[in-house]
Amino acid sequence: METHVSGPSRPRSAESGELLSRTAEIAAAWLESLDRRPVGATATVGELRSRLGGPLPGGPADPLVVVEDLARAAEPGLVAIPSGRYFGFVIGGGLPAAVAADWLTSVWDQCAGPYVCGPAASVAEEVAGAWLGQLLRLPEHASFAFVPGCQTADLTCLAAARHHVLLAAGWDVEEQGLNGSPPLRVLVGAHRHASVDRALRFLGTGRAGLTAVPADDSGRMQASRLREELAAGEAPTIICAQAGEVNTGAFDDLDAIADAATEAGAWLHIDGAFGLWAAASPALRHLVKGAGRADSWAFDTHKWLNVPYDSGLAFCAHPDSHRAAMSVSADYLVLGGPGRPREPMDWTPAFSRRARGFAVYAALKSLGRQGVADLVERTCAHARAFAAGLAGLPGCELLTEVVINQVLFRFTDDQTTDRVLRQVVQSGEAWLSGTTFGGRRAIRLSVSNWQTTEGDVARALDAFRNAVTRDPGLSCSGSCRDGRPSNRRIPLLRELPAAVKADGEPSAKTPSQCGPLAP
Ligand SMILES: Cc1ncc(COP(=O)(O)O)c(C=O)c1O
Repeated sequence: METHVSGPSRPRSAESGELLSRTAEIAAAWLESLDRRPVGATATVGELRSRLGGPLPGGPADPLVVVEDLARAAEPGLVAIPSGRYFGFVIGGGLPAAVAADWLTSVWDQCAGPYVCGPAASVAEEVAGAWLGQLLRLPEHASFAFVPGCQTADLTCLAAARHHVLLAAGWDVEEQGLNGSPPLRVLVGAHRHASVDRALRFLGTGRAGLTAVPADDSGRMQASRLREELAAGEAPTIICAQAGEVNTGAFDDLDAIADAATEAGAWLHIDGAFGLWAAASPALRHLVKGAGRADSWAFDTHKWLNVPYDSGLAFCAHPDSHRAAMSVSADYLVLGGPGRPREPMDWTPAFSRRARGFAVYAALKSLGRQGVADLVERTCAHARAFAAGLAGLPGCELLTEVVINQVLFRFTDDQTTDRVLRQVVQSGEAWLSGTTFGGRRAIRLSVSNWQTTEGDVARALDAFRNAVTRDPGLSCSGSCRDGRPSNRRIPLLRELPAAVKADGEPSAKTPSQCGPLAP
């Protein structure tokens, strides 16, 4: 009996080429529009639902038409995140080589779980992981995993931590689970990122199980208070420190915290989503002094390294614990083999997964060690220039010193702060987001994009100047001499040392299978 199977016919390669070429044109037009277009989205959610919505199509459609329609419908709902005038959250753009490699990643469509499904993907991760370790000065023997972002990196690291400290207490959590296990003690900074709590929740430590160590005015965990907490009890202990507070960019005193962790026999994890990149800059490296002494590190490559979403890394100084917490096996899985390939799925929480290493590899190869340092230092310089410009605006108060690429500020009162922010965002000239810090409304900006120029900063400052000039709350209330409220005391802006002393190559030797990171 003959069986007929219907479905879309396989496009000839010329047609696939036409589709990808047209897609590249649409993508290039988007990039070229960035300087002209409003930074924020212009469509409402209702408009986007009607543009993109409709009934499930009953049958196939021409892929070229599908892509053109999608691009047209989505266009007003796109945020110009790759623009140099996007200063929201902590979000990088996409470096050209990384974006192009990310496209190839989709076209190649490797499943980077088992080596056998993507040998090149596995080796690209192996090489890029080693390069990252060198760049961020992590121990040479550390294991790593390419994950969707810092939240998943925290999860990966903290799963390894949980395994390690419970095993030391005689409990194999991978075998026995958490029921009846010795209680875990988890100490976190009061200003930790919310994703740390979520990672811990996934691992069975709820909010009530956390001990929050008080932080100073910039959000730095107080190491002396950590010591007091550690002295107050004994249990398998995990400490979560932070490199780069999301509002202020402040760094915990990692060296002091590492001392305390060592004395207490605790696992020290560092959430360094963006702040850990300070290690790549000779001028900023002092901020992460002691970071290399931790047991695990989580950070993003989609933030300061400007790799397209989603891309983050987990590093662990105890590969056995990392692997024990993550590895998986099944009769049908073909793992290992000649040359002892690295199996990505042994290190990540995902089974099937995107080959994230290609884009990171391309980013690192296109920048080299010097390019990464320049990117980090340049964006920090833009943040300082931004802060200096803001400080001259009537009613503007910088809330903390500028440590790296984050600036935190407000205007006169909560309402005025929110109003000025709204005006700037509505102008389309820049995009930033609000926050509440120390109980007061504030505006936070992050310069994380490789594309940001002095002109972009000036343009965004003009948008603030215009908003302030037009703001009713920032007109003279009678207390100011020149018809404007005065700006509050401006904290010292931390400068990079004038002459940056390059302090040499990292001590970690390059594993034999990986070439050195380009200078
Ligand atoms: C300090 C810190 N940790 C963790 C995260 C979570 O990172 P991701 O969104 O990449 O999962 C962020 C995000 O901004 C962060 O700033």
